[in-house]
Amino acid sequence: MRPSDSPGRRWISLLLEKGLLLATGNRGKYEEFRRLLPRSVAQKLCFTPELAPMEVEETGTTYAMNAWLKARAWVSASGIPSLADDSGLEVRGLNFAPGIFSARAADGSDEARNRWLLGRMEGRTDRRAAFVAALALSFPDGRTLVCEGECRGTLTDRPLGSGGFGYDPLFVPEGQELTFAQMAPEAKDGLSHRAVALKVLLELLPDGVFA
Ligand code: IMP
Repeated sequence: MRPSDSPGRRWISLLLEKGLLLATGNRGKYEEFRRLLPRSVAQKLCFTPELAPMEVEETGTTYAMNAWLKARAWVSASGIPSLADDSGLEVRGLNFAPGIFSARAADGSDEARNRWLLGRMEGRTDRRAAFVAALALSFPDGRTLVCEGECRGTLTDRPLGSGGFGYDPLFVPEGQELTFAQMAPEAKDGLSHRAVALKVLLELLPDGVFA
């Protein structure tokens, strides 16, 4: 097989030609991927709610399964390479809850879910937690790359900061003093579970294609 015929090279040509769908309705994730992805791909990143409505049921029991389900559903419907993220917050003292149910831990807004989590943490001294993200990048030929990243840290006892999304105001990454919501977006990008997972994903693609 000539190098230009390898699946990796074909995938890259396809990405650059057709662009990439981000299979999420979460604008916070979209903003992060726009900053994290190589510019050639970020410029062609499509936020799916702006394209068409489609609810993909997250019936998996792991982040990886849910990311795979979302990426496969979008690539099958569109024929365009699709990237999905399934992520969550795992709190050690809560037996790793809310985990894959992080988006559904409480009804309503991010603020409501943060209040829910603070309520569950009341009186607890072990405040260790980790964000976990699985990414699935799926191509029209049916192949899908899946990888995971993690960011460990601790939970605060009140929301701090106004940046980011989700549980960011409650989470201080290991070795840091500010919550994700207090940091500059680029500082979160240097530490986040999503950034770690994406680095692995890009390493699975052929060398230098995004240079
Ligand atoms: P998903 O759409 O099922 O992957 O939901 C992920 C949920 O986990 C989000 O709605 C947030 O509540 C939480 N989450 C994941 N990543 C982050 C992050 O980087 N910051 C804050 N919350 C996050």
